[in-house]
Amino acid sequence: MRDEIIKKTKELLPKEPSLNDYDKTYQSFEWKQAYKELDWFEDNKINAAYNAVDRNAQGDRKNKVALYWESDDGQKLKYTFLDLMELSNKFANVLKNLGVERGDRVFFFLPRVPELYYGFLGTLKTGAIAGTLFAAFGEQALFDRLQNSAAKILVTNKELKERVDKIKGDLPKLEKILLVDAARGDRGALSLPREMSGASEEFKVAHMDADESAFMLYTSGTTGKPKGIIHQHLAILHQHMSAKWALDIKEDDIYWCTADPGWVTGIAYGILGTWSLGAATLVYEGRFSPAKWYELLQEYDVTVWYTAPTAIRILMAAGDELPRKYDLHQLRHLCSVGEPLNPEGVKWGKKIFGIPFHDTWWQTETGGILIANYPIMDIKPGSMGKPLPGIIAGIVDDNGKELPPMREGNIAIRPGWPGMMQKIWRRQQKYESCFINNWYISGDRGYKDKDGYFWFIGRADDVIKTAGERVGPFEVESALVEHPSVVEAGVIGKPDPIRGEIIKAFVILKDGVKGSDKLVEDIQKYIKKHLAGHAYPREIEFVNSLPKTRSGKIVRRFLKAKEMGLPIGDTSTLVE
Ligand code: WT7
Repeated sequence: MRDEIIKKTKELLPKEPSLNDYDKTYQSFEWKQAYKELDWFEDNKINAAYNAVDRNAQGDRKNKVALYWESDDGQKLKYTFLDLMELSNKFANVLKNLGVERGDRVFFFLPRVPELYYGFLGTLKTGAIAGTLFAAFGEQALFDRLQNSAAKILVTNKELKERVDKIKGDLPKLEKILLVDAARGDRGALSLPREMSGASEEFKVAHMDADESAFMLYTSGTTGKPKGIIHQHLAILHQHMSAKWALDIKEDDIYWCTADPGWVTGIAYGILGTWSLGAATLVYEGRFSPAKWYELLQEYDVTVWYTAPTAIRILMAAGDELPRKYDLHQLRHLCSVGEPLNPEGVKWGKKIFGIPFHDTWWQTETGGILIANYPIMDIKPGSMGKPLPGIIAGIVDDNGKELPPMREGNIAIRPGWPGMMQKIWRRQQKYESCFINNWYISGDRGYKDKDGYFWFIGRADDVIKTAGERVGPFEVESALVEHPSVVEAGVIGKPDPIRGEIIKAFVILKDGVKGSDKLVEDIQKYIKKHLAGHAYPREIEFVNSLPKTRSGKIVRRFLKAKEMGLPIGDTSTLVE
């Protein structure tokens, strides 16, 4: 039932929220009014990294802890804002010494280690564009991204470098590799610690136009290779305001964003928007486990927690006894992103932590939260909430005509907000195709109810969301056909109670090859290594043919409908 609204009033909240009257703020807010929340240089330019760190390091928050870091093996470190400023300055000097210039691409292929955080900031300080690569990526995924971006510098570690070594020869633009864990240079790579030790702690931060490029992230669509989404320095304004209003972050919070900076959440709300507000952030390098996560929440006195539905569902499945063993009373605000959050997840938060999970909706392309549930606003469990002040959201048809409440259509946003992607790297046409009739078309379908709450229905395309991670079926199909036994493959997202979706592949084998459990395993291993650890098909079905259009395109919606036992719709364009 959808009518069990979770009522919110100021009296019921543990703290006065930053956004204390949604309707009033929504009616009156304009982005220009918020420009004063940032520090601008005298020449009216800005730098996102300066705003995230330096302005705090140069003021009262100088010795305040900005980053609590815990490694996979339990090592604990603390960094103040001053530490982060000095380390990012040093890193910026290292880049300068290597000849990095404004607009060059500097990529990070690392697990969640401190070098990734200050390196990212240091890159922005030089005016270069920082890019991140999820540590689960294999050779093919790495190659596509490093080649398309023509990255000049790659920062990685010894273990991950082995994957880079296999493709390095085909990346002529890649000039230098920096290793975070090597005491000295080795086989064409430099030691970052060694370069850092000789670098100055002083750096003159690059003054950037608000719309100059700051960082880029590759993300997947239905077809083609991943696209490089570019964000401008002014995106930090959106991230700052949304971290304040939707995540309700205040300077005295201990905030934990469980997302990896290989994805946009880990950047927008793990580096930029949240440090800009002066809060302390927890980063845990290790893998997910329910007991460890509760332990971290308790040990660091986490107050605001931003996580994802798959994690919430796994925690739920681990049982309610476990969290009751920990003292978690300091938690005061819980948020979720990345995939649909079912009403059960929202309510489970309330049952276990005394507060519901607040769903938020956005994308890599949007640079920050667009639709959210706010501490002060009643929650309709299952709804993504309402647009952030400054954001105009609508449901539109395929021609970009706005639809009335309760009608399903494309979730669309009026362009021009500060976090909106500024371009798609070297794919201007693709960029332009995202806008219709002065709306940014998100690729998600949904509807708006009579009270203005938005509800998610599904993707308009074939993009897969598995455990919150966005995977393009084309990338997986391309990797599958590289396997010596595979001729053709069609890939879909199959609904899964825990992961939201799992990747399922329909595979045609070469003549004479027989399908077996061993072959399934072998193909899975191949994809994990070749493409990415998280993007392998958990299910593989061997088939004799695949549904195709006359032009030879695999019709994934047909595979999906069949898999789910749904009507298959119009098949008149199919040949098989
Ligand atoms: C896609 C964007 C947003 C940062 C992390 C993901 C899906 C995202 C929700 C939500 C239902 C959601 C959409 C969207 N998605 N949030 N609250 N409810 N679906 O960024 O990897 O670019 O993925 O994730 O399909 O388009 P991303």
